[in-house]
Amino acid sequence: MTDFDTVVMTRRSVRQYLPTPVPEDVLTKVLNAAQQTPSNCNTQPWQVHILSGDVKDAFSKTITTAFDAGQDTMDFSFAVADYDTDAQARARAQGAAYYQALGIAREDFDERRDAVRRNLSFFGAPHVALLFAPSVGDNVRVAADLGMYAQTFLLSLTANGLAGVPQTMLGSYAEQARTLLGLPEGMKLLFGISFGYPDTDAPAAQYRIDRIPASKSVFYHSSLTSA
Ligand SMILES: Cc1cc2nc3c(=O)[nH]c(=O)nc-3n(C[C@H](O)[C@H](O)[C@H](O)COP(=O)(O)O)c2cc1C
Repeated sequence: MTDFDTVVMTRRSVRQYLPTPVPEDVLTKVLNAAQQTPSNCNTQPWQVHILSGDVKDAFSKTITTAFDAGQDTMDFSFAVADYDTDAQARARAQGAAYYQALGIAREDFDERRDAVRRNLSFFGAPHVALLFAPSVGDNVRVAADLGMYAQTFLLSLTANGLAGVPQTMLGSYAEQARTLLGLPEGMKLLFGISFGYPDTDAPAAQYRIDRIPASKSVFYHSSLTSA
């Protein structure tokens, strides 16, 4: 058993993997841990499709072609411009820190596009999990459940010497994923998680981004009479 705090503090989104597949018993252990995730009324709405080998490669080929053609089939919108200015600044700082770790100059748009494109080959990972849920209401509650599932999955990967990177970008290819996997239109793709053994020597695996202090996100309320 790895110490919980160590797992939480060492987990990071790794963007370079070794090709070594994850042994089946290890993957089963990780998935059984993730299955313990809490959900609204224990609905457990997640449906997780794990792509490896030829299927993963076929998906990569399809979505890379779609990316190059500008064909986006997202079920749920995502635009950093929709966030407040503080969050937008954090997103910009995150991108800048990542490109700096890779040695990519700010003005080098071709290199930056290539770095973004690496999402579509799963950063060399041997597996990618695609997280689907049935469309329910405005989907906010199922999305929360899937987010919780994803974090349990990611922490379990870390605890087992593995790593993963959640990727909203893979959600840009929901139609392509449904077609490949034979899923109905009603199953919505939230995001994917590429995972495997981190290539610990690569700059993309060493890079780390900080958080704002908890005091900026957490507000205590205990007395009705205090100002
Ligand atoms: C739901 C979700 C979607 C994300 N989508 C992407 C993505 O498409 N591509 C990517 O490289 N990173 C993606 N990330 C990783 C974030 O950039 C990363 O979690 C954040 O910068 C904090 O870094 P850390 O995970 O290493 O602590 C995503 C993270 C989450 C939680």
